[in-house]
Formats: sequence, C-alpha cells, structure tokens
Amino acid sequence: MEELSVKIEKAIFEGRYLSHLPNGQVLLLEGFAQPGEIVKVGIYKKKKDYCEGRILEVETVGEGRVTPPCPYFGRCGGCQYQHLEYERQLALKTAILAENLRQGAKIQAWPGLSVVGAPEIWRYRNKIELNFVDDDFGFALGQCYKGSFYKIVDLDDCLLFPEPVAAIIKAAKEWRQKYALSCFDRHRFVGFLRHLVIRHAHHTNQWMIIIVTSDDYPENYPDNTSLQKLFKDFLNFLPKDLAVTSFYHRLIRLQRRKRESYTDTLLAGKAHITEKLLDLDYQISSDAFFQNNTVQAEHLIEELLGHCGQLDQRPILDLYCGVGTFTLPLARLNPQRKIYGLELVASAVAAAQANARLNNLDNLEFLVGDASKMVKQLRDHDFGAIVVDPPRSGLDPAVVAFLLEMKTPHIFYISCNPVTLSRDLALLSPLYEAKVIKGFDLFPQTYHLESFVKLDLK
Ligand SMILES: C[S@@+](CC[C@H](N)C(=O)[O-])C[C@H]1O[C@@H](n2cnc3c(N)ncnc32)[C@H](O)[C@@H]1O
Repeated sequence: MEELSVKIEKAIFEGRYLSHLPNGQVLLLEGFAQPGEIVKVGIYKKKKDYCEGRILEVETVGEGRVTPPCPYFGRCGGCQYQHLEYERQLALKTAILAENLRQGAKIQAWPGLSVVGAPEIWRYRNKIELNFVDDDFGFALGQCYKGSFYKIVDLDDCLLFPEPVAAIIKAAKEWRQKYALSCFDRHRFVGFLRHLVIRHAHHTNQWMIIIVTSDDYPENYPDNTSLQKLFKDFLNFLPKDLAVTSFYHRLIRLQRRKRESYTDTLLAGKAHITEKLLDLDYQISSDAFFQNNTVQAEHLIEELLGHCGQLDQRPILDLYCGVGTFTLPLARLNPQRKIYGLELVASAVAAAQANARLNNLDNLEFLVGDASKMVKQLRDHDFGAIVVDPPRSGLDPAVVAFLLEMKTPHIFYISCNPVTLSRDLALLSPLYEAKVIKGFDLFPQTYHLESFVKLDLK
C-alpha cells in the first residue's frame, strides 16, 4: 500500500474526508481526522478519477481533539466523531451541510447556517439492535465492525444507549451460555440466535426487549411451549430493578435468496411501550419506526410547528409520515385544520391511526401506499403546506413533479441526507426558494445529520 502525507481539506458526509494527491487527483479517506490536520495515509484503491485511502497516523494534531471515551471506538462501526469535542462535531456537520448546499443546490452561502446541538450527547438513543455471532473469532454480541457486514465487535456497553443496556447485554450473554444456544451464521444459514433489540421510551422509562431468532431451533427446545420457557428464563437474568414493559420473540423464517418474513410473539407484558413527544402519547409496537433521539425529535417538531401556527386553515399534507411524528402535533396545533398523512408501511399507518385516537385527535386522515404513485390521488386538494420527510434516497421524481405541479405556498423538507436534500432543492428551485435552513444533530458522535428547510413559493 502506497503511503504518503496529505492535508485534510474537508469532512464529507458519511464520516469520510477529502484531500488531493500531489498530482491533483481527488483522495477520499476513511479514518478519524478533521480539516487542517496533516495525516499519513495508505492508498488502497486507485481509479481513473480518484483514489481511496485510509488515515494511518495523525502527524499534525488539530485543536479540539479528545480521547474517545468508548473503548470500542475505531473498531465499532457505530460512531465516527468521538475523537472530536462536541462543538467541533457540530462545526464539521455545519460545514458538510454548507458544502452540499453549495455543490448540489447551488446555494453559495447561507449566513448563520448552524446545526442545532443535542442537550444529551451520550446515552441519547432509544433503540439499539445487536447481532449474535459465533464464528472463527469466537462468540460476540454487538455491532458490526467499521466497514464490515459480517464481523461483529463484542460489546459490554454502548455509550449512545441508556445505562441499563450493559446489564441487558450481560444478561443475554449469560442466558445464551446457560443454554449453549447457537448463533445464526449468515453465510451458511444455520444457527438460532440472530439479534437482541432493545427499545427504551425516554419520557416514560419503559423498556421493550426483542430476542430475534431463526427457525433453526435448538435440539432440546423443538416446539413453542419449550421455547417459551427458554425465553422467559431470560428475564431472570436481568437486574431486579429493571422492569421490562414488553418482551417479544421475533422469529425470522429462513428463506434463502427470498425476502425474509418474520412473526413477533409477545412473551410477557404489554404489546407496546408508550413514548411521549411534546406530551402526545405514542404507542410504539415491536416493528415500528420511531425517531431514535426523542428529545431532539421534539426540537425538530417544535421548529416545524413554529412555522405552521400562522398558516391559514387549508389542510396540510405530511408525506412519508411514519407513525405520525409530525402529523399528530400538526393536528393538535389547529384542530380546525385537516392533516393528511401518507406512508408506505401499513403497520406504521395503523400505529399513527391508533396514536391519533389515543390523543383524541380526529382531524387526521391517513393514506397507505407508495408516495410516487399515491400523490396522483391528491392533485385536486388545495393544501396550505406540504411536509416531506423522505428516506435517505430523497424525493422520488414523481413526488418532485407533484410538488411543482401543486404550487403549494410552503414546503417543509425534513431530511436525513444532505446530499439528496441538496439535489431535491435544486429540482424545486424553479418554483421554490429556501427561507429557513437549519441542521439538527439527532446523532451526536456519529456522521448522521438531519436538516430542516422551509421553502416558499416564489
Ligand atoms: C425518515 S422516515 C420519516 C418518518 C416520520 N416522518 C417520522 O419522523 O417518524 C421516512 C418514512 O418514509 C417511508 N417511506 C419510504 N419510502 C416511501 C414511499 N415510497 N412512499 C411513502 N412512504 C415511504 C418510510 O416507511 C418511513 O416511515
């Protein structure tokens, strides 16, 4: 591997860095650095237009570096920025957002652009999914290694998740050892234990634990009755003061080369845990998507509501509404106004409807389906605003066409990917002008970056 020293020029999205080789070629780097630092790198890929390399050593250390508190940092793929003090992380994310806006949306500068920092920068996550593995490296329960899908870092704790996670991981390891349970082998499709999923409701302190297995049952536990006994014994390994509100077994059927299907069976407690978002109750089922950082999600909702209070009574459409994270607060903000939610996943919509009932909100209507196909049905509506919160891939071209056709006075774009956000802002720019652009840090210590953009019809 060719080695040389270069200066880090920019941080780019997804935790990588950009530099140039002496011959002017672009160099994309993985590792832990910050702009301005001189680093020794090893080049492992040479393409016609660019090269890829790894940061091997930091030769000139920049300001704001800290010793990462997590012993797994660098190996575990979960975090990318623990080596930087929090203000530096926010500055890095602001620069990444600004650069994407410049390149993708041709917004040359946005005075005062910032990323709103999180009040809690450790132990803020409300969901974690760990992998069981038992391979040539031995047994492990943890997260994927940086850059690997198969290799797992054995964890005893995760500093992004509330403290009892350590006790739950310990319990899972001891329980697995007592019964000598096999772990699922993702190459050979054999073995039993697959994942341990833990969810925690921040405001109510309720816990959900899901043990995910294959249907390659252990010899001594061939049927449901014996399996239930085996699973319930897991609870005996937990600390006595950890009350589990909801305990599930998820069975994933082994279907090589086919999409996997699964069944969740409630083993103990309630079917769901309840979380609050700005005092609205949300029931979270075992398979529901829910914003991972409760407190910062509330700040994002407050930002949106702050712009919607003055709008007229025309309905608002919430595209990609999930379980109603934005739909419900919008409905409560003005009970006279109708709010429409559209979402692909039927179970999320069922949860959104249940949550609307739970909070006595009746000015909502939900539609299930693919936004790119369903928007046609909404052409005749006269919306006062449209909220879009798409997946990482951003808006489908049919949704962009719909937005340009509707000419709704305001669009609120919530994004988890500054690259596709900037692309979509460019596509909307013939008719829409950005009035507010802000980043929100929902994932301190990691590269993830949420953005909020208010667009007005020109
Ligand atoms: C980033 S999440 C946002 C969910 C919700 N707004 C929230 O904050 O909880 C994106 C949502 O879009 C949904 N989705 C993905 N592709 C979709 C499509 N083609 N049509 C409609 N919804 C889609 C996903 O199921 C997911 O719920």
